[in-house]
Amino acid sequence: MTHRDAHNPILFEISWEVANKVGGIYSVIRSKAPVTVHELGDRYTLIGPLFQKTAIAEVEPEEVSNPCMKEVLEEMSHHGVRWRYGRWLIEGAPHVLLFDTGSTSTKLEEWKADLWKVAGIPSPPNDQEANDAILFGYLINWFLGDFVAREKSKAVIVHFHEWLSAVGIPLMRKRHVDVTTIFTCHATLLGRYLSSGTVDFYGNIKNFVVEEEAGKRGIYHRYCIERAAAHCADVFTTVSQITAYEAEHLLQRKPDGVLPNGLNAVKFSAMHEFQNLHARNKGKINDFVRGHFYGHYDFDLDNTLYFFTAGHYEFKNKGVDTFIESLASLNSRLIASNSPMTVVAFIIMPAATQSFAVESLKGQAVTKQLKETINDITEKIGQRIFEKAARYTGGDIIDAIVEPTELLTNKDKVFLKRRVIALKRGGWPPIVTHNMVDDSSDPILNSIRHVRLLNSPDDRVKIIFHPEYMSSSNPLIGLDYEDFVRGCHLGVFPSYYEPWGSSPAECTVMGVPSITTNLSGFGCFMEDILETPADYGIYIVDRRTKSAKESINQLADYMLQFCQKSRRQRINQRNRTERLSDLLDWKIMGMEYVRARKLALYRTYPDSFAGSEAGDFGGIKVKIPKPLSAPGSPRMKGKSGVSDDEEITEGMQNLGFKISGYDDDEE
Ligand code: G6P
Ligand code: GLC
Repeated sequence: MTHRDAHNPILFEISWEVANKVGGIYSVIRSKAPVTVHELGDRYTLIGPLFQKTAIAEVEPEEVSNPCMKEVLEEMSHHGVRWRYGRWLIEGAPHVLLFDTGSTSTKLEEWKADLWKVAGIPSPPNDQEANDAILFGYLINWFLGDFVAREKSKAVIVHFHEWLSAVGIPLMRKRHVDVTTIFTCHATLLGRYLSSGTVDFYGNIKNFVVEEEAGKRGIYHRYCIERAAAHCADVFTTVSQITAYEAEHLLQRKPDGVLPNGLNAVKFSAMHEFQNLHARNKGKINDFVRGHFYGHYDFDLDNTLYFFTAGHYEFKNKGVDTFIESLASLNSRLIASNSPMTVVAFIIMPAATQSFAVESLKGQAVTKQLKETINDITEKIGQRIFEKAARYTGGDIIDAIVEPTELLTNKDKVFLKRRVIALKRGGWPPIVTHNMVDDSSDPILNSIRHVRLLNSPDDRVKIIFHPEYMSSSNPLIGLDYEDFVRGCHLGVFPSYYEPWGSSPAECTVMGVPSITTNLSGFGCFMEDILETPADYGIYIVDRRTKSAKESINQLADYMLQFCQKSRRQRINQRNRTERLSDLLDWKIMGMEYVRARKLALYRTYPDSFAGSEAGDFGGIKVKIPKPLSAPGSPRMKGKSGVSDDEEITEGMQNLGFKISGYDDDEE
């Protein structure tokens, strides 16, 4: 091995979701880019697949400035490889290199045979995704192998995300390519399958015959790629403790560490702006609710709370089953305690639909007409008051004022009555806002029917299932997801299988309390760092040691506690929730990535670290880097635009202290 400078390494970060939005990993990589660019500058390049259509929108081409890279890419072009190099048009504008796997599809059979020969990984003929993974893996191996043969001075770190991007790991290991590798698992292939079945996944995790389970599901070859990547990487990581546990048993290597997902928290200059946004967006949800419940709108919106859950339609894994059962229990408890509160619970999960339901559209239309008629009438009333007053030319002043009985004309009354009559309806307000392709066998609808939460006037918990993602162009709610979340009071994510789970994290940075579980990566993370999570608006349901019934009860308890809060208490809690934003920001969360890279360098180039002890993940010391917008003046040493308090909190987090209690006396 050549001697490489391990203190100024080059980093390639590889994922199928670079400049290619598929799912959660895209957001992780995209939002992390600014901190990594800040740290490594031009030594950082992301590698992903090339899809012309999306690449045109996401990547601005630029000349390849690194001479070694340029040479290799030109050579690859001669062999027919299509690629695109440029700046990803996102915050931080990192360099990206995209490879078109289609341009080398003629190589597929040769590479598949090679993969079998060098790594013992089989590949059946018709798995398009696995074929792409193989082409992508060989292209990366080709590029990096040739790159490090030219760039001999600096250490090269290659960080792979998820099995789809990771065929290169066993290849580079077998071919002794002089790089150090990190593999991050965002979920295991088998875990996702096994957890959605009927067996007790966590109870049996140690007993599965993994090869056999993979074989039964036709994913043995994919599983081989994932396992080879985990075993051949210099450093193996997952996004959470719970996934580390899963990987240890299903992939049979204990991860070296955990790289939790961060976010870019939007900070408003005015502290309470996020509270104002809540009030404004809640107003829009109120409008929708008035329309949806027309004819049965007999509850007080001032005493109404909006709960929601959202995500991919995974009935069991996302805990929708648990949510619905708990809502039924909450409903009985609110009724029994004669509570003045009403809860409207939204389920936002895309399913196959034909169109919006006529009944839903009608509800919005009739309330809108009523509102318009009333606006018309009020305008005319204003005109009449004005006319009469303006015409005053002396005499009894009383004659200049319209009598209250004259305010509404008979015509107005007729119009108004007509609008009010239109609000009459036969049945109860609908549960689902759309016409479902498969209404009678939809698991969410069936579960709602089973617990009989049917939006009857007596119910204190109403349910609305919106089987489509939110969007501002939607004729019903007309809010983008983020604004919808801001308008709600509580996010409920009682997941059974959730390697990380960004939804509750997103709620947190927007100052919206949420409920999660100790089977979700985010929930475990929060439980680890907060002494009393509930005070911060982070409720964690125990789904690990409790029975299903007990978890359902605990969730209902949490929701009931939330319903018992006063408005002032809710406002205070939102403030505390929002204050956690700094902890979830990449500026802090990104530190674990730094640690993983150091460990990888240490393991591959120990000579460069002579005298220092590392050994494992925990042994690697990292410091909080200088702030993104550093003032750079030597006299400002240690001051970076953050207050002392904030710096102390960050430091504590880094040292592994638990954050306890809160220092305000607002309650
Ligand atoms: C924000 C606004 C307040 C409003 C409150 C409603 O805090 O700044 O003006 O009263 O939201 O809170 P609630 O929990 O009742 O929706
Ligand atoms: C996977 C996990 C999800 C996580 C995401 C990003 O999709 O299922 O929980 O948030 O990866 O890491």
